[in-house]
Amino acid sequence: MYHSAFLLSGLVAISATADAALTRVTDFGTNPSNLQMNIYVPTKVATKPAIIVAMHGCGGTGEQYAQGTKYNSLSDTKGFITIFPSTKKDSNCWEVNTVKGLSRDAGGDNQGLVSMIKYTIQKYSADPTKVFATGSSSGCMMTNVLMATYPDVIAAGSCYSGVAAGCLAGSPGASPGSADPKCANGQNIKTQDQWVAQAKAMYPGYNGTYPRMATWHGTADTLVKIPNLGEQLKEWSGLHGVTFTKNVTNTPQSGYTQMVYGDGTKLVGYSAQGVGHTVPVHEAEDLKWFDL
Ligand SMILES: *[C@@H]1O[C@H](CO)[C@@H](O)[C@H](O)[C@H]1NC(C)=O
Ligand SMILES: *[C@@H]1O[C@H](CO)[C@@H](O)[C@H](O)[C@H]1NC(C)=O
Repeated sequence: MYHSAFLLSGLVAISATADAALTRVTDFGTNPSNLQMNIYVPTKVATKPAIIVAMHGCGGTGEQYAQGTKYNSLSDTKGFITIFPSTKKDSNCWEVNTVKGLSRDAGGDNQGLVSMIKYTIQKYSADPTKVFATGSSSGCMMTNVLMATYPDVIAAGSCYSGVAAGCLAGSPGASPGSADPKCANGQNIKTQDQWVAQAKAMYPGYNGTYPRMATWHGTADTLVKIPNLGEQLKEWSGLHGVTFTKNVTNTPQSGYTQMVYGDGTKLVGYSAQGVGHTVPVHEAEDLKWFDL
């Protein structure tokens, strides 16, 4: 479980063993914003393995996210590959605010992330139809952006305590210190049509299907406030053409409400009662959502 996405303290002690398992890849292709690529390939890698891109929050690193989550031990039994990228700018927050960052192949962080994915597909003969994105806080914001800008690359996403793709558009930065606070404060409220138009403009002319989304948020989050869950659900339900079906209480655990859209295969939300920033990563639920 990963508890502190914005804050670095408490996460600096990285165990040498877990760290050694990650490999730094330096030459993975176009990398316009100078991201770092760390990868975990299990000893028993599956044939045509799936890929998970797991993204840290502000102030974090890929190494810390690997350490604070259970994806690596799960991949030892399931055989998928995990990429743990790092960004080193804007207090290590992902670029989810600039025009280039919210476009395709335009020099943003998202382009470097897709280079990492393409490198991994090629090098390990991974399955291009099983590429998944996840992240906490800023990493969840980038999950939304990656899914909107590269819907043909990402099959599904899971997301902890972030904001809709485009919520920070035009903000001078994406970190708590540099961002327009309106978004994180839950004051960037748009209609579904506005969110859909904004997301579609990130990949104009795309007419394929969008990635499946499971997004989690805590009701007691004071850093990235709970209205951002509703705004993400508006955005993705519009992109998928599904509407709210039902709430399932105490799912997957006491105090969490699962909000089902359509038949529940394309979009679900999780509202975690009394949980702050960030919702602990639910790796087993992620793998179920990714069908791994
Ligand atoms: C969808 O996009 C593809 C690729 O740009 C294009 O070839 C196709 O004609 C489009 N289909 C529709 C129904 O617009
Ligand atoms: C579903 O659950 C969410 C989160 O608890 C709540 O905000 C919403 O009002 C519920 N909707 C219905 C129809 O009960």
